[in-house]
Amino acid sequence: MIEYDRVSISLGGQPVLRDISFSIEAGEIFCIIGKSGVGKSVMIKQLVGLLRPDSGAIRFEGQDVCGMDERGLMALRRECGMVFQQATLFDSMTCLENVALPLRVHYDLPEHRAQERAMGYLAQLGVSHLAEREPAALGPGLRKLVAIARTMTLQPKALLFDEPTTGLDPLAARKFDKLVKGPLARAGITQVVVSHDVRSVFDIADRVVMLHEGEVRFLGTSGELSECEDRVVRGFIEGKPEL
Ligand SMILES: Nc1ncnc2c1ncn2[C@@H]1O[C@H](COP(=O)(O)OP(=O)(O)OP(=O)(O)O)[C@@H](O)[C@H]1O
Ligand SMILES: [Mg+2]
Repeated sequence: MIEYDRVSISLGGQPVLRDISFSIEAGEIFCIIGKSGVGKSVMIKQLVGLLRPDSGAIRFEGQDVCGMDERGLMALRRECGMVFQQATLFDSMTCLENVALPLRVHYDLPEHRAQERAMGYLAQLGVSHLAEREPAALGPGLRKLVAIARTMTLQPKALLFDEPTTGLDPLAARKFDKLVKGPLARAGITQVVVSHDVRSVFDIADRVVMLHEGEVRFLGTSGELSECEDRVVRGFIEGKPEL
């Protein structure tokens, strides 16, 4: 469903990713791990056309993302929803209005119908009590849950989560993991999760890619990850600096 084919990109004069290739199957829960600054966010921003690789191709359902015009990109972003690392919400609207917004913009639903559906997604994430709150008054964890609800409203084929559990308390983080493995997986949604949260990765991932110094250091199932003996991989998953 998603294919990175020899993708390279430099940013600010520095090479970030070099010749990265891997594919993500439909319905898979696929985690991207690696140290801060290694290029995880860059990786998924390229998939929705927010950054363009210097060379290589990125395909979503066989279509080259890099060749899409603005219209193509709009359609892509409906099918491939993204929850950003910094949960971006409009502070001038309530949480419910934020979540209802894509339904009004993309499907032209009347306000009350959009809000009814939006409420369902807030409830699914256990935050319906935030409906009338203003996002500015919330901490990063709760903002993130509201942003996730907003992305889910368009019922995308794929969801991209950038650090979804960062800033969440441990209970909310586990709730997120359950959502990924439960309703979202049952709905057949392909899920790409960028994460530092090793526990969460082992809990949810079908497969994992670990990026290191611009390259793929590991690619395999979470079972293979737990048995991987590479020192860089072990250092990361055990939270120990490399020897
Ligand atoms: N728009 C940009 N312009 C210039 N440099 C950028 C830009 N976006 C990212 N970079 C650089 O690219 C590298 C990879 O950044 P990226 O945000 O993908 O890291 P990350 O793996 O997501 O890190 P973190 O775990 O801290 O979120 C970093 O060195 C960053 O400074
Ligand atoms: Mg990042």
